Amino acid sequence: MGDGMRLAGKTALVTGAGSGFGAGIARKFAAEGARVWCADINGAAAEQIAAELGGTAITCDVGNAGSVSEMAQIVLSAGPLDILVNNAGITHLPQAMEDVTEDDFDRVFRVNMKSVYLTARAFVPHFKERGTGAILNVASTAGVSPRPRLNWYNASKGWMITATKTMAVELAPFGIRANAINPVAGETPLLKSFMGEDTPEIRAKFLATIPLGRFSTPEDMGNAACFLCSDEASMITGIAMEVDGGRCI
Ligand SMILES: NC(=O)c1ccc[n+]([C@@H]2O[C@H](COP(=O)([O-])OP(=O)(O)OC[C@H]3O[C@@H](n4cnc5c(N)ncnc54)[C@H](O)[C@@H]3O)[C@@H](O)[C@H]2O)c1
Repeated sequence: MGDGMRLAGKTALVTGAGSGFGAGIARKFAAEGARVWCADINGAAAEQIAAELGGTAITCDVGNAGSVSEMAQIVLSAGPLDILVNNAGITHLPQAMEDVTEDDFDRVFRVNMKSVYLTARAFVPHFKERGTGAILNVASTAGVSPRPRLNWYNASKGWMITATKTMAVELAPFGIRANAINPVAGETPLLKSFMGEDTPEIRAKFLATIPLGRFSTPEDMGNAACFLCSDEASMITGIAMEVDGGRCI
C-alpha cells in the first residue's frame, strides 16, 4: 500500500467483481493501493479475481436481502469500509417491451435496482457513523439515451441515476459522496446480451453511434471509478459521468 497511490489506506467493496467492468474496477482499485472485497454471485469468479489482485472474495446475491446482510456482516466485522461500488447488473434480451417475461422483469428489478436499496441499508449507517464514505453506482448510457427493445433494462439504469442524485443530496451532510458512471457498450460478456447476437454487422451498428469509434473497456471503467472514489473527487457528488466515447452528445 504505497503512500503515493490514489486509494492508499482505503477499503473498497465491488459487486459483480468476478467479470467485466467490476473486475476492471477491482483491479484498478488494488493497483492504487486499496484493499478490495470482490463480491459476486459466481463465487469461483470472485475467488479468481480476488486471488489475482490480493483481495478477498465474497459470494453474494446482491438482489437478496439475507445475502447482502451476511456480506455486510463479514465486511464490517473485518474493519471499516470506505468505498462501495454497486456494479453487479444484468439485462433482459432485446425484445419488444410487452414481450419481456415477468420473470425477466423481476430479475432485472431485483439485481439492478433492489440491490442498490439493500446495500444502502447495509452500509449507509456505517458510513454515517464514520462521517465519510464514497458510493459509486454503475448505471449506463441506457439510462440517458435509451435504445429500443431494452426498455426495462434502460429504465432500471434511469432509476439508478435518480437514486444516485438523491443519495448525494441526502448523504452530503454526513460527509458521504455518491456518484454514478454511465458506460457505453463495452467489451464484456454482457455485450452479446445487449446486441442480441454478436455479428460484425451488429457490432458495426453499435460502433457507428460511438464518436470515439470503439467499445468501452473494463480499464476505462476502472480509471473513472478510481477518480470518483478517490479524495481527488472530494468536491464531486451526484454526478452520472458518461464514460461513453461521446455517445450521449
Ligand atoms: N457491458 C456493457 O456494455 C455495459 C454498458 C453499460 C453498463 N453496463 C453495466 O455495467 C455493470 C457490469 O456489467 P458487465 O458488462 O461487466 O457484465 P458482466 O456480465 O461481465 O459482469 C457482471 C458480473 O455481475 C455478477 N452478477 C450478476 N448477478 C449478480 C447478483 N445477483 N449478485 C452478485 N453478482 C451478480 C455476474 O456473475 C458477473 O460476474 C452492469 O451493471 C451493467 O448493467 C454494462
